[in-house]
Amino acid sequence: MTKDSKFWDAVHKKTSGDITKHSYLAEESERFFPRNATICDLGGGLGFDALYFIQKGHNVVLLDISTFALKRAINQVKALKLSKKLLTKQVDFGLGGLPIKDACCDVVFSRIGLNYFPMRETQKLFSEVRRILKTGGKAYLALKSPDDKEEMKFLNSAAVEMEPSVFIEGEQIRSRFTRKELEAMLNEVGISDFDTRAYQEGPDVKRDEFGVTKEKKLYLNLITFTKL
Ligand SMILES: C[S@@+](CC[C@H](N)C(=O)[O-])C[C@H]1O[C@@H](n2cnc3c(N)ncnc32)[C@H](O)[C@@H]1O
Repeated sequence: MTKDSKFWDAVHKKTSGDITKHSYLAEESERFFPRNATICDLGGGLGFDALYFIQKGHNVVLLDISTFALKRAINQVKALKLSKKLLTKQVDFGLGGLPIKDACCDVVFSRIGLNYFPMRETQKLFSEVRRILKTGGKAYLALKSPDDKEEMKFLNSAAVEMEPSVFIEGEQIRSRFTRKELEAMLNEVGISDFDTRAYQEGPDVKRDEFGVTKEKKLYLNLITFTKL
């Protein structure tokens, strides 16, 4: 068990009772998914968005570093007799690859699952997302953005900026890339047909980055692209 997996197990243990609902982003994105899609959810945690997708008729591959969160997700779908629709794998995205075959997903979805790596590693993950998508498949990747002034004030004072837009807070890496930076990163790995936009969840959303229940706006940058 690594330091990061222990950290995230502890976060999920603390918050698992509070999170009972899928995210707005999941609901809004799902409308554009093909029906009966194979979806890979990167950093999907306790699986509430995965469960929502499953209930909409999709199959989900849930990848996360936290074995605790993955177990909770499995138990949820078992209780609803939907186990066949969920596959989970414990993986550390920081190691650079996704343990999934080429071209087997219709959709890759991620809500704040890719904010924990320096620029190069994040770029590598973008190209991994493209690799696992089928031709015509679509990525919906939401990363926390630096538009949250309050949070940036905190990071700028309490964390160390190890490279532009990448902070170390305690032992945890937090990236807050601007849309411009994300666009340059996508271009550099040869992903061209993308769209980026600022996406705000809330203020009535009850889940912050760590699943903590509070009234808080979430400032995200949403990347969408189609594999050509
Ligand atoms: C902020 S939570 C988001 C969870 C979920 N997607 C949501 O919207 O509520 C970040 C997720 O990324 C996972 N994670 C963090 N670092 C990771 C890593 N290095 N590899 C894989 N997953 C990681 C955490 O366990 C956690 O479930």
